[in-house]
Amino acid sequence: MSETIDLRSDTVTRPTPAMREAIAAAPVGDDQYGEDPTTNRLQERVASLLGKAASLFLPSGTMANQVALRVLTQPGDDVIVSPESHAVWHETGGSAANAGVQFTTVGARGVFTAEEFAAAVKPRGHVIYPPTTLVEIENTHNRSGGVIFPQADAVKVCAAARERGIATYLDGARLWNVAAATGTKLADLAAPFDLVGVALSKGLGAPGGSLLAGSKELVARCVRHRRMLGGAMRQSGILSAAGWVERCGSPGSSPPRASTRSTTTSSGCATIMPTRARSPPRSPRASA
Ligand SMILES: Cc1ncc(COP(=O)(O)O)c(C=O)c1O
Repeated sequence: MSETIDLRSDTVTRPTPAMREAIAAAPVGDDQYGEDPTTNRLQERVASLLGKAASLFLPSGTMANQVALRVLTQPGDDVIVSPESHAVWHETGGSAANAGVQFTTVGARGVFTAEEFAAAVKPRGHVIYPPTTLVEIENTHNRSGGVIFPQADAVKVCAAARERGIATYLDGARLWNVAAATGTKLADLAAPFDLVGVALSKGLGAPGGSLLAGSKELVARCVRHRRMLGGAMRQSGILSAAGWVERCGSPGSSPPRASTRSTTTSSGCATIMPTRARSPPRSPRASA
């Protein structure tokens, strides 16, 4: 029987047998009391991989983006993003409904420079402008076919934002791909940003889940907004366990070594990092 390879999206995947075993064996507790050991350990591990003080598990990448907007902006604010970013095209208007923000798009094919960013900033306190309070970078860029945002530009954009008191958010749903493709450490990719979102369900094959990482203070505020959006779960270790599976480990085993390489092994065990970014397609249309 021939096997179908479904190329609609890197999310159209099935959990590996190792993931299913990890899910079945996961120790769990009530995560709303902070008592799910599997989720707690995953949060610690992802925070450490990203070089941040804390991280928070959420059901989806869309919710991670929405929570980030709510934590880092006020209704009526302006957010600078790349054209065709996920937040603008693929979240069904959630950013307007949930955070009340408007977007200004700059650059092309998923990337922009610090100069383009600076030229688009609208100052605070102006009588008619909506204040720019956040810049969001998507890396890799979904609708641009997996384009990697050059790290040197990300560093400059974030420095220019900081000078102006503008917050910085990285939609790094596929940040693992950037690390694997460029050999850059996840912590270095995340370093310029106040808050970073990463997904377990893109390319990895985990059934769902994303994490937001940042300072303890920011992540504590994310907890409240996750709850407001209905994303606070109970025995979430059932879901987060699949993100733990690496090098055939399990949530109960000792934490695997941090790595920026490797993907599904020959024995079918998934790792937390897929190997490489997708090459640009002919059309900029991409999956959700
Ligand atoms: C760049 C990016 N951010 C966020 C998301 C949202 O993730 P989810 O499908 O888990 O809501 C996606 C989904 O493909 C994405 O490509």
